[in-house]
Amino acid sequence: MTIAIVNGPNLNLLGTREPEIYGNQTFEAYFEELKTMFPQVQLQYYQSNVEGELINFLHNCMGKVNGIVLNAGAYTHTSIALADAIAAIIIPTIEVHISNVMAREDFRKTSYIAAKCVGSISGLGMMGYKLAVEYFLSQKSKVKN
Ligand code: DQA
Repeated sequence: MTIAIVNGPNLNLLGTREPEIYGNQTFEAYFEELKTMFPQVQLQYYQSNVEGELINFLHNCMGKVNGIVLNAGAYTHTSIALADAIAAIIIPTIEVHISNVMAREDFRKTSYIAAKCVGSISGLGMMGYKLAVEYFLSQKSKVKN
């Protein structure tokens, strides 16, 4: 099983970015932990600050990836193009947010991508990515290899 973890804008700064909201860990360090937790899964990681690059990456996942764990960052709240890409590629996608977006500013309460995703995880810190991978594993028999 191959799962792509995709992070959007500003998530390259995890570790130093607003640590009171997002914690102190870099995503690179967390990704190493994830790979140890799931040796049976082919985990890929992609990050971009550019909307079109994220869309191109999602398109390139077609036929190669069984599931996508997507933290679209602020594009969650703005990008119809990203929502359309998720719908177009037909690969099951889980929306993840490190912070609890429902407990923050009102503009974060709108997600353009949520309806195109299998489900959403918000507010559980980095653990949200792990839980998303676990969900895909639990569905393994239903997922094309
Ligand atoms: C975020 C929440 C978004 O509102 C914000 O723009 C981010 C990070 C999160 O992981 O909590 O960049 O997606």
